Amino acid sequence: MNSSDVIIVTGASSGIGKATAEALAKTGARIVLACRSPSRGEAALAEITRSSRCERVELMQLDLASFASVRAFARCFAERYDRLSCLINNAGVITRERQFSEDGYELQFAVNHLGHFLLTTELLPLLTESAPARVVTVSSGAHKIGRIDFDDINLDRRYTVFGAYARSKLANVLFTRELARRIRGSGVTANSLHPGGVATNFSIDRETGAGSRIMRTVSLFMSSPEKGAETPVYLATSPDVAGISGEYFVKKRRRKPSQRALDDTLARRLWEESERITGGR
Ligand SMILES: NC(=O)c1ccc[n+]([C@@H]2O[C@H](COP(=O)([O-])OP(=O)(O)OC[C@H]3O[C@@H](n4cnc5c(N)ncnc54)[C@H](OP(=O)(O)O)[C@@H]3O)[C@@H](O)[C@H]2O)c1
Repeated sequence: MNSSDVIIVTGASSGIGKATAEALAKTGARIVLACRSPSRGEAALAEITRSSRCERVELMQLDLASFASVRAFARCFAERYDRLSCLINNAGVITRERQFSEDGYELQFAVNHLGHFLLTTELLPLLTESAPARVVTVSSGAHKIGRIDFDDINLDRRYTVFGAYARSKLANVLFTRELARRIRGSGVTANSLHPGGVATNFSIDRETGAGSRIMRTVSLFMSSPEKGAETPVYLATSPDVAGISGEYFVKKRRRKPSQRALDDTLARRLWEESERITGGR
């Protein structure tokens, strides 16, 4: 990475995204913190600027639960920057009950997958112009129990919190593999990863500060956000993975994802449905 590189990190206000942005700021690249909450975004911007001693960090507002916000972000980004070296699709939610996005889709699928799908496809022309460039998507080992039923996209028939989360994380791996197939030869690569079990604000309610007691206890045995950021930073910067695309990584190593995540027909169908839903390219 050098001073002409520009990197977007979604969900950079907290946890793994914030630690990833902080590590990348130290490389001298220009970092754009794509954050939902202006106040948490401002706090992260101040902290990252101070700790990295890098002035080349900027905050832009992005709500992945709104297609309009995603499109506005991509438009605004393209007006400000003529280059995008790396897009890190990191933001994620796990909700305690079934909730819906502004556009009426089950919230975890909407934020974790659909928002990032639209963001990536909107920014793809700029990524391609900037090649070599990379797309890094933070999935989870939870993808292994995920299933996608296109006839029940909002989980009207059966909703469980973890089932909905696992489905969105399976979508992250399938999306990455199909994206890699579609952009093969363009100089842009796409990879996904599991960051490990990381003690962050995940599953903590932003309004009330409430979190499950189990998660709070389990978090005592989890890695730090800095450790969780190691694989995304590796995939964003390492020359070792310069030509590698469509793969799934854990602890900076290529790993085989679940059998369902390797289903090419499912990956293609997910892309087509996501395109239809978002009205994307
Ligand atoms: N922690 C783990 O053990 C673990 C394990 C496997 C995978 N992951 C994945 O790692 C990623 C980062 O999670 P984390 O653990 O760092 O959790 P976190 O501390 O809760 O951070 C999540 C980030 O996503 C942002 N976000 C949530 N909804 C958003 C929306 N609608 N639009 C834009 N940004 C939104 C949050 O912004 P606000 O500050 O505005 O809420 C926050 O910056 C997620 O994709 C998660 O699935 C985490």
